[in-house]
Amino acid sequence: MRSGPDRTAEARSILRDNDRGTYTVPTAGLYPFQWNWDSLFAALGWAQFDMARAWTEIETLFKAQWPSGMVPHIVFWSEAASYFPGPDVWRAGRVSPPSSGISQPPVAATVVRRLAEIDRLPPRSLYESIERWHRWWHRARDPEGRGVIAVSHPWESGRDNLPDWDRSLYRVAPTPNGGYARRDLDHVEPAMRPHKTDYDRYLALIEHGVSTGWDDDAVARHCPFWVADPGVTAVLLRAERDLAWLGESLGADTGDVRRRIDRIETGFEQFWSEAAGTYCSLDLRTGEHAEAGTSASFLAPYAGIDRHADRLLEELNAWSEACAYLVPSFDPRHRDFEPVRYWRGPVWCMVNYMISTGLAELGQPDWAERLRADTAALITASGIPESFDPMTGGPVGGSNFTWTAALWLAWASKPHNPDNDSR
Ligand code: GLC
Repeated sequence: MRSGPDRTAEARSILRDNDRGTYTVPTAGLYPFQWNWDSLFAALGWAQFDMARAWTEIETLFKAQWPSGMVPHIVFWSEAASYFPGPDVWRAGRVSPPSSGISQPPVAATVVRRLAEIDRLPPRSLYESIERWHRWWHRARDPEGRGVIAVSHPWESGRDNLPDWDRSLYRVAPTPNGGYARRDLDHVEPAMRPHKTDYDRYLALIEHGVSTGWDDDAVARHCPFWVADPGVTAVLLRAERDLAWLGESLGADTGDVRRRIDRIETGFEQFWSEAAGTYCSLDLRTGEHAEAGTSASFLAPYAGIDRHADRLLEELNAWSEACAYLVPSFDPRHRDFEPVRYWRGPVWCMVNYMISTGLAELGQPDWAERLRADTAALITASGIPESFDPMTGGPVGGSNFTWTAALWLAWASKPHNPDNDSR
């Protein structure tokens, strides 16, 4: 009998091929720069065979931190014509290196804690940089102190064209400069990417940010898209807990971190929609919840929130009956579900990793293992692409993808063994 493909060797060589020395691109061509949360997940992969390289990845990202504390979602360390919109569109050049003007889900403290557990504590300076980034999220994206974190652009959520954003996004006037050339369609089939009508609004939101000089207060007051996201909020809440652990290990005063944890822990309940029976995003301009749940709804346990846990598990069970592989990015029973269109259906393995981690901590090892096994089955059958079709298991989006490779190495390839749990 022929043995199956050696995904571990393949995953390592994808990380090496996507390595640009001090950072790892998500995939050549489609995403040729440093992306924020991609790099942090990449570090988890590097940590499996080159710990020094894992730390470098994170240090490089934080070299691009803005004076405000914001850590941008893209850092343009080099020039590349294969991507649009580049630095000339973002015009966020008052700091060097050029970068985008928005952020991405803050997984840094959680990844750094993981590295600390398997290697060593980070330098105090890295802890302080992450602390400043967390403070930025609260100040800039929750200026009223409601305990829910807003995103000012769908890309800031890391889940670009989720159906959740449709209603809020379609209130944004499209850019009048509609003649731009998209480059993503040079690399990936149009059926797997957002529509032009979405892109016209993504660009209008960038132009809005530019018009304010990327001023946090002006963005919070006037940005036409201002939606509280359970995904970013759950990731931040988890990260704050991990930051507290790091701070205590380093002998820092974590009083502020604890106060921030309390605020979002309480605030998170605002995402609960009785109508949808799950956690949903919340448009802070209109007060409306999105209609249906997304994969981020299942991140509540990852954030340490066990309220409504039984309802969430019932919901996960219902999703599992509606698709072949968990966890699709959007409710597979909903009319807006599209199994291969980017964040409107596909399974993303780093989201599965986070959900599975939370389910294990909730005391649901069978569900945690189901998600790991589904992810392993997808990668074994379909290779290491950007994401996967939850109905057929086929590959979706870009190929040779860094975070899929990294999560294979760090998680999906390792069947759960409760004796290996470190916490
Ligand atoms: C897309 C994804 C985002 C990711 C980026 C690079 O924009 O939605 O989450 O960080 O690609 O992979």
